[in-house]
Amino acid sequence: MKEHLINIGNQFKIKPFNLLRNPVSMSGLLLTGVCTLIGLPMMFLDMFAPRTNPYAGIFIYFFLPGGAIFGVFLAMLGVIIERRSRKRHPDRPIPPLPKIDLSKPSHRFLLLGGVASLLIVFLLLSVTGYRAYNFSDSVQFCGLTCHKVMKPEYTAYQKSPHAHVACVSCHIGPGVNWFVRSKITGAYQVYSVLFHKYDRPIATPIRNLVPAHETCEQCHWPAKFFGAQQKVFSHRLADEKNSPWQMVSLLKVGGGDPQLGSTSGIHWHMYIKNKIYFIDTDGKREVIPWVRSVSKDGTVTEYMSTESSLSPEEISKRQIRQVDCIDCHNRPSHIFMTPHRAMDQAFDANLIDPGLPYLTREAMRLLAGEYANEKEALEAINKNLPVFYQANYPDIYKQKKGAIDQAVKTVQNIYSHNMFPEMRTDWRAHPAHIGHLEFDGCFRCHDGLHKSKEGRVITNDCNACHTILAQGSPADVAKGRLQSQAFKHPVDAGMDVSTMKCTVCHTGTTGL
Ligand code: HEC
Ligand code: HEC
Ligand code: HEC
Ligand code: HEC
Ligand code: HEC
Ligand code: HEC
Repeated sequence: MKEHLINIGNQFKIKPFNLLRNPVSMSGLLLTGVCTLIGLPMMFLDMFAPRTNPYAGIFIYFFLPGGAIFGVFLAMLGVIIERRSRKRHPDRPIPPLPKIDLSKPSHRFLLLGGVASLLIVFLLLSVTGYRAYNFSDSVQFCGLTCHKVMKPEYTAYQKSPHAHVACVSCHIGPGVNWFVRSKITGAYQVYSVLFHKYDRPIATPIRNLVPAHETCEQCHWPAKFFGAQQKVFSHRLADEKNSPWQMVSLLKVGGGDPQLGSTSGIHWHMYIKNKIYFIDTDGKREVIPWVRSVSKDGTVTEYMSTESSLSPEEISKRQIRQVDCIDCHNRPSHIFMTPHRAMDQAFDANLIDPGLPYLTREAMRLLAGEYANEKEALEAINKNLPVFYQANYPDIYKQKKGAIDQAVKTVQNIYSHNMFPEMRTDWRAHPAHIGHLEFDGCFRCHDGLHKSKEGRVITNDCNACHTILAQGSPADVAKGRLQSQAFKHPVDAGMDVSTMKCTVCHTGTTGL
């Protein structure tokens, strides 16, 4: 009987381990061994890291286990080939296992050398792996590594209130579930960047964004919202004088916790046992024809927009979403300002001279233009703004050369920070939902057109969300006694604007 066969009943079977002695199986086993040796400690490190990261994860959870499994597969393949070959040539001698004889200096040297180099490789990998891990978790990695794709979000992020909050705090949730999901989406993202499969602009809303409960609410929590906050809105009209217009308003941000005060107010929508559900029809959450509110005593009210022709069957087929922070605060960090707002802010910060006639209008025109790339836009601003003054206000062009240069720089700067033609990303691609002036925001539901069968209407009372305390030119605002007042539109629009959506006229470039 051949040495490598064992007797099972009358059947001759080949010893499986013996069959591994072939080059294919041996390399497979080596691969599995190395991948496991590197992978296990890295998984261990990853488990104890405060946050997990999709890109390090691709390596640890895809490539290494993939390699290990591939190795096992190779080993099995080798076994099959070897078995066939032995059946065909039963007399072929089995390759012996290499023998190590420690009394031979060359063997000692090889063995020690092998172990030492394995140790060194292992150490190096642990250190670089750990560093790579930390790096790939960092804002620099998220924002800069795939520079072109992330440029708009990274640029806007750096000027946002969350500039010191790491990308992963909002984009990757805690816990095993998110951990695994982020590995999968992370792998897809790497693939889409490598093969240029990404959308321009990156499509929003992000469908699988971590629920706010696990991100925003780690730092802000609904119970803390109460009372009201005063906010000053400062504008410049698009007229010759760039006339200033201000509004002081008390925003009713309450709604959090009955123990801390009244639960009415803007954050009433949030989780203090009130639940609001909606469906959208445009896939962008901009058009919301149907809303259901469930109050804390369980009363259900369904509202339907009188402008929508959706039938109950069509409604029942759509996906229902519960309102969370991101349905209003969809731009907490990636704020792409409209040309009008960006100009308002630049005037406010004294970066430009309001004595330059029609500066708001001209800058808005340039900022809203269509350009192939950033360079072309910056050149257009550099050329056309001075040309406007040269042609229409030759005296001012001569006297205020410095102010015009400064205006060019400021408008270029606004462009670079808010408009990204290469990624087709700007205020048009990513509307902000927090107000209602330039995007429908609150008026997606609070437009006075969403009615229930019982006759309830989702309010569009101008005093439901804020109390206007003062409005007018800065001089008027400074003189006046702060008191609740009716809204006054800064210019005569030829109709009562408070009966319609502001976005009928306001698109971020009004007056242009
Ligand atoms: C304060 C939380 C927060 C931080 C910090 C944050 N993001 Fe976001 N990000 C969001 C939210 C919320 C959205 C979803 C917008 C939507 O779905 O409409 C988003 C969307 C995105 C998008 C999709 C395109 C877009 O503009 O909506 C990209 C890309 C992105 N973030 C990248 C980053 C990068 C890179 C960083 C770090 C440099 C980062 N984010 C930091 C909250 C955050
Ligand atoms: C890691 C903690 C952290 C996370 C996560 C976080 N925030 Fe914030 N957020 C802050 C801090 C700190 C500030 C105050 C910044 C300041 O005052 O300059 C802030 C400010 C804000 C403000 C006020 C902005 C303003 O203009 O003053 C809003 C609104 C806000 N966060 C919403 C969100 C939303 C929505 C999310 C989730 C997508 C979120 N935050 C996630 C820490 C966080
Ligand atoms: C998805 C639809 C939807 C959106 C978007 C929405 N709301 Fe509401 N809101 C509702 C519903 C529904 C109610 C409750 C109406 C009822 O049943 O009384 C409500 C109630 C309110 C209330 C009254 C709460 C109270 O004290 O009784 C305020 C204030 C409010 N919303 C502010 C806002 C603001 C500000 C925005 C925009 C940032 C906004 N809402 C966006 C659906 C919405
Ligand atoms: C219905 C819309 C809506 C929802 C939902 C919503 N907010 Fe707000 N939130 C607002 C509005 C409007 C303001 C006032 C914004 C302003 O003008 O700066 C505000 C203000 C804030 C502020 C700054 C003011 C303050 O009191 O500190 C923070 C922080 C904030 N929200 C966080 C959150 C978080 C976290 C969630 C989710 C738990 C959330 N919001 C849900 C509409 C909403
Ligand atoms: C559902 C809540 C809600 C209702 C109803 C509402 N507003 Fe507002 N409004 C807001 C919020 C929230 C902001 C603040 C947006 C921000 O912080 O950028 C705002 C901002 C404003 C501003 C300042 C905008 C700016 O950027 O200068 C004006 C003016 C205004 N509202 C007028 C009105 C008028 C007039 C009505 C009645 C037709 C009205 N609002 C009804 C929620 C509401
Ligand atoms: C029929 C068109 C129309 C409607 C509807 C309208 N506006 Fe205006 N609004 C204008 C025009 C035109 C200007 C002047 C633009 C300029 O000079 O910059 C203006 C200017 C303003 C300004 C001064 C600065 C700026 O951003 O343009 C504010 C604030 C304003 N409107 C608020 C509102 C609010 C709030 C609503 C909704 C309740 C509203 N408007 C609805 C046409 C309209």
